[in-house]
Amino acid sequence: MTSPRRWTLRTENTGYTVRLSPDGPWAELDAWGPLGVEDGPSALDWSRRTHFITPADAAPAEYLPYGLRPFAGADLVASRPGEERGVWWDFEAVEEAAGSLRLAFADDVIGLRAVLCYSTVPGTDVILRWTELTCTGDRELRLERIDSAGVTVPVSGPARLTYLTGQWSQEFQHTQLDLPRGTFTMGSQQAVPGHAYAPWLAVQDGASEAAYGVALEWSGNWHMTAEAEPGGAVRVRAGRVPHEGAVFLAPGETLTTPRLACAFSPDGLDGLSRVWHRYERHLAGERLRRPRKVLYNSWEATGFDVDAAGQLELAKVAADIGAELFVVDDGWFPGRADDTGGLGDWYPDPAAFPQGFGRFVEEVRALGLDFGLWVEPEAVSPNSRLYAEHPEWVYRIDGRPARLVRNQLLLDLGRTDVQDFVIATLDRLLTEHAVSYLKWDMNRPPTERGRPGADHADHLDLDAQHVAGYLRVLDHLRAAHPHVTVEGCAGGGGRIEHATLARTDVVWPSDNTAPLDRLSIQYGFLHAHAPHVMSSWVTDAPGVFDPRPRSLAFRFVNAMCGVLGIGADLRAWTGEQRAEAARWIARYKDVRDVVHHADVRLLGTPADPTFGVQYDDPAAGRTVVAALSTGRLDGAPLVPGRPERLRLRGLDPRARYHDAESGSTYSGAHLLHYGLPFAWSADHDADLVVLTRQ
Ligand code: DGJ
Repeated sequence: MTSPRRWTLRTENTGYTVRLSPDGPWAELDAWGPLGVEDGPSALDWSRRTHFITPADAAPAEYLPYGLRPFAGADLVASRPGEERGVWWDFEAVEEAAGSLRLAFADDVIGLRAVLCYSTVPGTDVILRWTELTCTGDRELRLERIDSAGVTVPVSGPARLTYLTGQWSQEFQHTQLDLPRGTFTMGSQQAVPGHAYAPWLAVQDGASEAAYGVALEWSGNWHMTAEAEPGGAVRVRAGRVPHEGAVFLAPGETLTTPRLACAFSPDGLDGLSRVWHRYERHLAGERLRRPRKVLYNSWEATGFDVDAAGQLELAKVAADIGAELFVVDDGWFPGRADDTGGLGDWYPDPAAFPQGFGRFVEEVRALGLDFGLWVEPEAVSPNSRLYAEHPEWVYRIDGRPARLVRNQLLLDLGRTDVQDFVIATLDRLLTEHAVSYLKWDMNRPPTERGRPGADHADHLDLDAQHVAGYLRVLDHLRAAHPHVTVEGCAGGGGRIEHATLARTDVVWPSDNTAPLDRLSIQYGFLHAHAPHVMSSWVTDAPGVFDPRPRSLAFRFVNAMCGVLGIGADLRAWTGEQRAEAARWIARYKDVRDVVHHADVRLLGTPADPTFGVQYDDPAAGRTVVAALSTGRLDGAPLVPGRPERLRLRGLDPRARYHDAESGSTYSGAHLLHYGLPFAWSADHDADLVVLTRQ
């Protein structure tokens, strides 16, 4: 039975128990793990011996302010301007309902009320946590740290942290470190989550299988900090980071932090990825049911050299091989011969479309293709008409030079007039022409980030305003143009997190489409994100980081692990290549439902000679295995040898599985124990196997 001072939130397979501390006025974690884990004395209990620190520093606290927790890292730092920092609150009230919990604490001296909020997500093993902060006094509050939550993971040795790191063109690299003591921090000050780190972290107790994960729902500046605490736990603090260094809360105002999604799986990182995939399917809601169409995007083929004739030539071949959607990327508007101009003046270039853009769109559609368009709504080129008319719309600091990044400036999307301009622009583009796909790109972070002429620049909270503007426009797109599929992109994977994922249909993980580079990106990406959001193109791009050549089949199988697109210059492909592409696209159409709705298992890592991704749809009795040879391509074995094997997981050992393509039938036991065989050779380095349960 739950005691009055202890509350348990239950998801499909997990339980999360919070209690009021016996040691002071704070909430602390009692248990988190598989259902029923709270039944027993808390595994987070501790000796209560503290030397030189306070009990609050040693507690597995859910959320504590600086003041009450003076040394070990606080989740909130608040003060009244001009006064000492610190909050010393008391427990005030609890509100409990099915799947939700709210614990309120109040400090009447400083005038602050904090509500720790919890909510379970139906059909998933995710608990959302956030905090609501209200200024209850008669003087404003200065909040210099406003984390969403503190998350404790008890560990018996060094914690194993897994995170996704990289740079432009090399995002989502799966990276691990062991944290015996000290602090690990990652984040972004780039107004987007950035390419360097995904706002996602997994924590394990050393080599133990169980995995805990957190992911922050915030499209702007953020941080995530994991600290090995003296009492043998790792405590993760995560939240947004105000651009001005602090947020001010006026009397009566409430600030709601972004939500931190918290997930647990007893089945390691692989199981944890399935929890995140299910959560992202939940975020997609009804829109998950729409099949993701096979896209052709002309960016890698034509770059800025966009004109009706060249695009139609590509569209014809794309239609012939089975693409369903044609997207014109950057370069369709005037002044865009290169990246030095054009942004902001979102009208089709009459010189590129001499018969009119409407006619061009209809010609593409007459090929049986849907039509899509690229935009970069937050961007403006210094030589554009938009900038001449509204120089006040860009981020700038009076008296300071405004630097260009990729030759462009960034609009202050926190301004309502800028939001209204972007909404009107998109409405016009989406209604004047039959556009059913929109790729929203963003290619520069703000550097001199100020709002010229604004009073009290330190009180603006520009980062949160930009996020709110961005989400307002995305929400508008969903409401006003529900038939339009939206792709999120920021110079590749610079803005991928749950707020974006809840409002887009797919995201572009990286500009790097080279086969082995892409595989490494997708391997990391799939730990945090689901296949139905993972846009992936087949191109001719050579490797940047791993230049080893791979076949067209490899490029297709790799791209089919998510949402298949083609980005190669199809005009240069031979008849044989086009025929092979048509065969792969047909196969993809047959399996995409499984790929986008399935339970995913990552079979090994790209560092293994054979890597695979297994997709199971138990209801349909179908298993799809994408198998990729990542090792040497030194030809067929000239001496006796055996094929490579990919051991499958999660199948019924007693069932039989049939591969119609090869005609082979395997028992589940065989597939689990020996695995699927792959006899790789120099010209056979990838395969897609579809197994039907008999
Ligand atoms: C960056 C994107 O990631 C690319 O796919 C492409 O759209 C270019 N921008 C266009 O400028």
